[in-house]
Amino acid sequence: MPYTVHKLNDYSEETMLKAVVQFRLALKIEWFEIEQKIINPDLTSAARQDELKKFRDRWLSRKSGQFSQINELWLKNAPADRKKSVGHLINQLKQNDLPQIEQLIEKRGFFVRQSSDAIRSINRIFDDEKGRKLQQETLATQSRMNSLLQTLESLGSEELQKIAIEEFYVDLSEALEAAAKSKDLAVERLDITLPGIRRPIGAEHPVIKTMNEIVGVFRNLGYSVEEGPEIETDYYNFEALNFPPNHPARDTQDTLFIAGQESKALRDRLLLRTHTSPVQIRTMQKMKPPVRVVCPGKVHRNDALDATHSPIFHQVEGLAVDTNITFCDLKGTLDHAMKALFGSSVKTRFYPSFFPFTEPSADVQISCIFCDGKGARDGSPCRNCKASGWIELLGCGMVDPNVYGFVDYDPARVSGFAFGMGVERIAILKYGVDDIQLFFQGDVRFLGQFG
Ligand code: DAH
Repeated sequence: MPYTVHKLNDYSEETMLKAVVQFRLALKIEWFEIEQKIINPDLTSAARQDELKKFRDRWLSRKSGQFSQINELWLKNAPADRKKSVGHLINQLKQNDLPQIEQLIEKRGFFVRQSSDAIRSINRIFDDEKGRKLQQETLATQSRMNSLLQTLESLGSEELQKIAIEEFYVDLSEALEAAAKSKDLAVERLDITLPGIRRPIGAEHPVIKTMNEIVGVFRNLGYSVEEGPEIETDYYNFEALNFPPNHPARDTQDTLFIAGQESKALRDRLLLRTHTSPVQIRTMQKMKPPVRVVCPGKVHRNDALDATHSPIFHQVEGLAVDTNITFCDLKGTLDHAMKALFGSSVKTRFYPSFFPFTEPSADVQISCIFCDGKGARDGSPCRNCKASGWIELLGCGMVDPNVYGFVDYDPARVSGFAFGMGVERIAILKYGVDDIQLFFQGDVRFLGQFG
């Protein structure tokens, strides 16, 4: 029968002492048993936790734990003239034993959370001679306490006093701690000769790094950032940008269309956006001029993969609309941006081009950063600019008045420019990368260089 606190027949000194000694002995013995149970390597961690919980409930539960029962059964029933000394004894018991046992449970909780492997290795440590001796001592203490508990009833007041002094005033944790300490040490033992865990520091991806740098240049000029969806409608990706249905300019930007949309009107069909220009339209739909935005993002094209092409890449789009914006503003802005990105000695050149949504349109070329625009390096033709001294970098132009028609701007009152640049292309030039695929292969030997 497990121990339970029971009512006292009388409140004599001897009975009280007996009850207290019995309580403490039972508590210690049961704790010893728990200790032995949870060290068993065959037990799962959940089973160990369960044992601890059962113990905690049995002794410490607010309502029916044995510590609470003391109040219920001893103190409440005490005659008025004994209340004070009973209360004193109980307080002593609680102040001493309660925090200690709580602490032990807490510590074991940590131990119990260890894996079975850890426990096995602890047992291995206990297998040595010192460990065996310790366990024998523990078992000896336990059996001594057990026999004490059995003979308790037959003990006289004097012997009781002796045991009480020994058991009550000697720290409860002492006997237990001797055993527990070595276990704790074993659990917490650190092998400092093991190699440490390396936690490599990540690096910003060169494409993101370049994209942030481009955006930063325009932020400094007062531009804000807008983003749009990667899955776009035909309307935003083409129609509102003045690519009419069947216009040949669409062929240069073939992409993936979501399947099974034949029943939808062309303008509503979904596709993977081929450029970030649709964000221009979305921005103008929600903002009135003046508008100054850059729109970074990922785009998709049906392009065969090679050293300079990838079906997925990134662009930064720019748009400025206000009154009296001229081609000069466009030239000044982009010339500044190219100098900020590639160095102040870089020159720019605007070359006539065509985009449906700008009129006039231009390609921006920068003086070759490899041969300083000379077209030759070390006596041989520069391969980077095909000996021309110029590298084509981005598209731009004055926003076509037709586009304003789609967003309810009055082309008679406002004007503006737009530009779009490929992020990978700029990163390739800035960092001297010779294959666009490197950006997407996730090889840390490559990516680590940008940290
Ligand atoms: N969207 C174009 C492309 O991907 C690039 C571009 C050209 C954007 C001219 C513009 C622009 O905003 O004005 O090829």
